[in-house]
Amino acid sequence: MNAAELKQKFVNFFVSHGHVEIPSAPIVPENDPTTLFISAGMHPLVSYLLGQPHPLGKRLVNVQKCIRTGDIDDIGDNRHHTFFEMLGNWSLGDYFKDDMIPWSFEFLTKILNINPNDLHITCFVGDENSPKDEESAGLWKITGIPSNHIHFMPKEDNWWGPAGVTGPCGPDTEMFLDTKPELPEVEFEEGCKAERYVEIWNDVFMQFNKDSNGKYEPLKQTNVDTGMGVERTTAILSGFSDNYMSSIWQPIIKKIEEISNKNYVGVNHDSPSLQEESETKSIRIIADHIRASVFMIAAGVEPSNKERGYVLRRLIRRSIREGKKLGIESNFTVIIANAVLDNQNNFAGNYPELNLNKDKLLISLETEENKFRKTLDNGLKEIQKLIDKNKNVSGKEAFTLYESFGFPVEMVVEELKKYNLALDIEEFNAAKEEHQQQSRTLSAGKFKSGLADHSEIATKYHTATHLLHAALRQVLGEHVQQSGSNITEERMRFDFSHGDKLTESQIKEIEDLVNAKINEKLPVICQTMKFTEAQKEGALAFFGTKYPKTVTVYTIGDIGNYFSKEVCTGPHISNTSELGHFKIIKEESAASGKRRIYAIFIVF
Ligand code: ALA
Repeated sequence: MNAAELKQKFVNFFVSHGHVEIPSAPIVPENDPTTLFISAGMHPLVSYLLGQPHPLGKRLVNVQKCIRTGDIDDIGDNRHHTFFEMLGNWSLGDYFKDDMIPWSFEFLTKILNINPNDLHITCFVGDENSPKDEESAGLWKITGIPSNHIHFMPKEDNWWGPAGVTGPCGPDTEMFLDTKPELPEVEFEEGCKAERYVEIWNDVFMQFNKDSNGKYEPLKQTNVDTGMGVERTTAILSGFSDNYMSSIWQPIIKKIEEISNKNYVGVNHDSPSLQEESETKSIRIIADHIRASVFMIAAGVEPSNKERGYVLRRLIRRSIREGKKLGIESNFTVIIANAVLDNQNNFAGNYPELNLNKDKLLISLETEENKFRKTLDNGLKEIQKLIDKNKNVSGKEAFTLYESFGFPVEMVVEELKKYNLALDIEEFNAAKEEHQQQSRTLSAGKFKSGLADHSEIATKYHTATHLLHAALRQVLGEHVQQSGSNITEERMRFDFSHGDKLTESQIKEIEDLVNAKINEKLPVICQTMKFTEAQKEGALAFFGTKYPKTVTVYTIGDIGNYFSKEVCTGPHISNTSELGHFKIIKEESAASGKRRIYAIFIVF
C-alpha cells in the first residue's frame, strides 16, 4: 500500500463516521511566535481542543505535514524523520474512548488487514493526576485483544502533550505491531527496545490543560486526538521495517545512489557491513534533510543564523557534509530537491506550494550550497593557519570551526592526519556537549508561553495586521498581498508583496489610515461561511494555501461597508477602540519584490 492509498483509507473511514476532512495547516504556524514548526496534527487545533467551537464541527480528520527538530542529530536511523506526515482524527468534546477504541481496532484489522494477534497495546498505569486507565484496557479486551497483549506503562510512555510547556494533554493508548510474529514472544518492554514491536498509532484522550505552574486542570470538554505516522505505517504495510525502503523514499534514495555511486542497504538486508551501514546512514540523512528543506523553503523559510532559518541552514549543510562522506564533491542539493518534487505523488497529502515555489526553492538551495562550499574552503585555510602557528588544532578550536563555520570535525581529523597529527576528540565532544546543553535550554524557553500565543497583546497585534494589510492595499494598490507575519509581545512584523521602498509620505499615510480606523471604533465581526462565499464577498486569503470548505472570516467595520475582510482562524479583539496608537518603526526589504514593516502600539 502506498502513502496516498493509506491516507485515502484513513480519511474515508473517519468520514464514514461523521468526520470532516480539513486541509493540512502550513508547517510554519500562523501568528504563533512561540514555536518554530507544526509538530503534530493537533498543534494547529489547540484553541479548539481548549473549547473554541471549530467552524466545521466536532469531528475532524486530516493528514498534517509536521516538522520535529528536537532530534535532528538522531536522524539517520531507519525510522525517524525531520519532516513527516501524520494522519489524525479528532473529537472536539464529542465521542470518547468507547467509540475511538473499537474504531481503532476496526481500522487496523478490517481496513488495513492487520492480524489482531500481532497487535500489542499500551495503556496509562495511573499516577496522582489521572487514574489507571482500566477503561481503555477493558475496551481493548472487548475487541478481542488478549490481556497478555495489553501493557500498562507510566507517564513517560503513555501520556501525550502538551506539545509545548502548557496546553491540552492526557493519557493515551498506543498500538504496536509485532514485526516478527513467527518468533517466540518476548517480554514487551524488551521487545520494544529490540525494535521488534513498532508503534503505529496513538490515541490521546485529552482531558487536561497543563498550566504554567505545571498543574493539570481538567478541560471543560473531553477530546480525542490521534496520530498515525504515514512513513512508518506505509513501510510496515509494505513489509519493510526500514521506513526508507518504501515508495515514499525510494525514488529519492535511488537518485542519491546514482550520483554518489554508493548503495543503500536497508535494515532488512542480512548483516550489512559497517562500511555499508555508515553509507546507508549518510544516504538517509541526505534524503531526509533535503525533503524537509524543500518543505521549509516552500513555506517561506530562508537559510539564516536565526530560528527557523538556522534549522534550515543546518539541514542543508549537514546534507552537504554527508554528501562529502559519500564522495560527492560538486553541488547536488538541487538534484535531490528535484527528485523530491518528482516524487510528490508518493506522499500522502498533496502540496501545491511545492510546485508554486519550485524556482525559488531551487535557487535558495543552490545559493546556500555555494556559500557553504566556500565556508569549507575558508575552514581549510583556517586549519592551515592554526597548524602553522600552534603546530596543531585543539578540540576546542575544532569545535569553534564546527560551530561558527559549520566546518565538519571529520574534515579536521582528515586534515590533521596529513601532518601525522591527531585531534583531541574528547575535548571536541565536551565543547559540543556544553553547547548543546545551552541550546536545549534556549529552545525549551521558546515554548514558555505555551503553544498558540493568545495573550492580550498578541491578539491586539493580530487584529492590527488586518488593519495594516487593508491600509497597505488602499495606499499602495491591490497588488499588495500579505506574505507572512510574526508577532511578539513587543512588536508586530508584517511582510507583503511590493516592489519599491515605501516613501516617508506613504508610511505616514498608512499609519494615519490605520489610526483613523482605530479611532472610528469599528467592530471586529467573526462569521463562519463557505470558502467560496467568503471569496465572493471579497475576503482576503493566502494565495496557494488550501482552505477547508467552511472557514471563519473576520470583518472590520460594517458587514456591507467594511474596511477589512480576511479569512483567518483568529483570535481577534472585538473592537478597534481596544488598540493603542499605531506606529511604523521600520520599513525594509524582506526579499526581492517583498517589503517588511515593523510596527508597535505606543499606548495600550
Ligand atoms: N498528538 C499525538 C501524537 O503526536 C497524537 O502522537
